[in-house]
Amino acid sequence: MVSQKSVRTNRCTMSRRTYHIRPAKFPDAVPIFMLIRSHPRELVGRSLSDIVQNVDRFFVAEREGKVVGTVSWQILPEIGAPKDPSIEIKSLAVEPGSRGIGIGRALVKQTIAHVRGFHPCRIILLTFYPRFFVPFGFRPVAKRSLMYKLYSGCINCSKYDSPFTCPEIAMALDLHPRHASVKRRRPAGV
Ligand SMILES: CC(C)(COP(=O)(O)OP(=O)(O)OC[C@H]1O[C@@H](n2cnc3c(N)ncnc32)[C@H](O)[C@@H]1OP(=O)(O)O)[C@@H](O)C(=O)NCCC(=O)NCCS
Repeated sequence: MVSQKSVRTNRCTMSRRTYHIRPAKFPDAVPIFMLIRSHPRELVGRSLSDIVQNVDRFFVAEREGKVVGTVSWQILPEIGAPKDPSIEIKSLAVEPGSRGIGIGRALVKQTIAHVRGFHPCRIILLTFYPRFFVPFGFRPVAKRSLMYKLYSGCINCSKYDSPFTCPEIAMALDLHPRHASVKRRRPAGV
């Protein structure tokens, strides 16, 4: 369970409209469910019970007392000791009436800051809008480099017959170059 105290919240009062990014709580589960469900083209649906069970892996944007945006994250599976721990950002949505004032960007920023605390090797995501994620340092990667994601999530997708025919772009933000310590050699005589 993510401690509420361990997560900084982000309050924006500088724009003409105020919003507040904070960790989700159980009462947010239904608004999160509705928000995700209202974006069937862009987002993979999530059941209410899935949201409730993973409520500690969601952030929400609140505006005038209402949940207007959400994002979540999950740790991707690995066998044995973590060699290449990766975290996926998913379920990012802002309601149409609250777009364009920085909420989407603030949700992603908050999530990256939070999951960095676990020291993952990389953060990944699948998106129709790669341009949105470039300013955070995400770069397109081959879907084949994310086979664990494909086997753990995409394999259950009912929208496309294969992840390789799905038009979503795979992106990654590398935080620790995997082979840096292996490749780096000591200069001769040191
Ligand atoms: C993508 C989304 C979350 C952005 O939310 P938002 O609150 O409008 O985003 P922001 O206000 O923080 O916008 C930040 C920047 O991204 C840009 N942007 C927003 N949506 C974009 C899109 N679909 N493609 C490319 N850039 C986009 C904005 O123009 C803005 O850039 P600027 O500041 O240089 O003008 C929102 O459009 C949304 O909910 N879309 C439907 C669901 C979805 O596509 N989720 C993402 C799946 S990975």
